[in-house]
Amino acid sequence: MTGENILELKGISVHYHGVKALDGVNIALKRGEIVALMGPNGAGKSTVLKSVFGIAQLDSGEVFYKGRPITPVVHEMAGLGVVLVPQGRRVFTRLTIEENLEIGGFSIRDRNGLGKRIDGVLDTFPVLKKKRKSRARALSGGEQQMLAIARGLVAGPEALLLDEPSLGLSPRIVKEVFAKIKEINVAHGTSIMVVEHNIKSLLEFVDRAYVLDKGKVVAEGAPGKLIEGGILEKVFLGKLQAGAG
Ligand SMILES: Nc1ncnc2c1ncn2[C@@H]1O[C@H](COP(=O)(O)OP(=O)(O)OP(=O)(O)O)[C@@H](O)[C@H]1O
Ligand SMILES: [Mg+2]
Repeated sequence: MTGENILELKGISVHYHGVKALDGVNIALKRGEIVALMGPNGAGKSTVLKSVFGIAQLDSGEVFYKGRPITPVVHEMAGLGVVLVPQGRRVFTRLTIEENLEIGGFSIRDRNGLGKRIDGVLDTFPVLKKKRKSRARALSGGEQQMLAIARGLVAGPEALLLDEPSLGLSPRIVKEVFAKIKEINVAHGTSIMVVEHNIKSLLEFVDRAYVLDKGKVVAEGAPGKLIEGGILEKVFLGKLQAGAG
């Protein structure tokens, strides 16, 4: 792929209380692609997403949005066109599905426009559409994850960042969530960066993947190349040679 970069992280380093979480990381998301960030617990995957959002403070490096350097500020990102769906599907269980979606449209001033956006998003999620007036607590785990993603889409993002959407879901439901992510990508041209721990089935849905380990990118490329090289096994079994990749 040779498309324009929607997002680019160049030389990003982040630490928390003296612990280095990211060490000179370079990652790009091109227009229209789905990119996976994979790696073991503590590799720095969530911190990559947080640094795009201004939630993690950068020691060094720069974030570019459509080729321009930006200073990420968390509440401004949706207006810019970048939405984060954080780890742990935090939907508001006491609110209805529709009310949850309204919250996702906080950056939209035009309230009529917001209603149309919500209708449009619900067309992509028939299960949620049927239950739009029900409280979110009545949804299954998989449906709540769908709602968390749907809420992110209300803002009409160009770039959607998803942190471990499979967490706590059964393999069958995980497949459904991944298929929905692909559907969003194809139908709306949304560029998507998705963090997953070690789910090979994700690779069939993505254009490229980065493998992180201990705050560094240790491999990058098309899924086929990464599977052939056995890089995921090496990283997860702790058998990666220093400097490899
Ligand atoms: N708020 C924080 N305070 C201190 N250390 C943190 C904080 N957040 C993350 N870390 C540390 O930074 C490193 C990277 O964490 P990060 O959450 O980015 O990893 P991850 O790859 O998303 O892991 P997981 O798969 O468990 O979600 C880890 O060593 C983690 O313990
Ligand atoms: Mg994480």
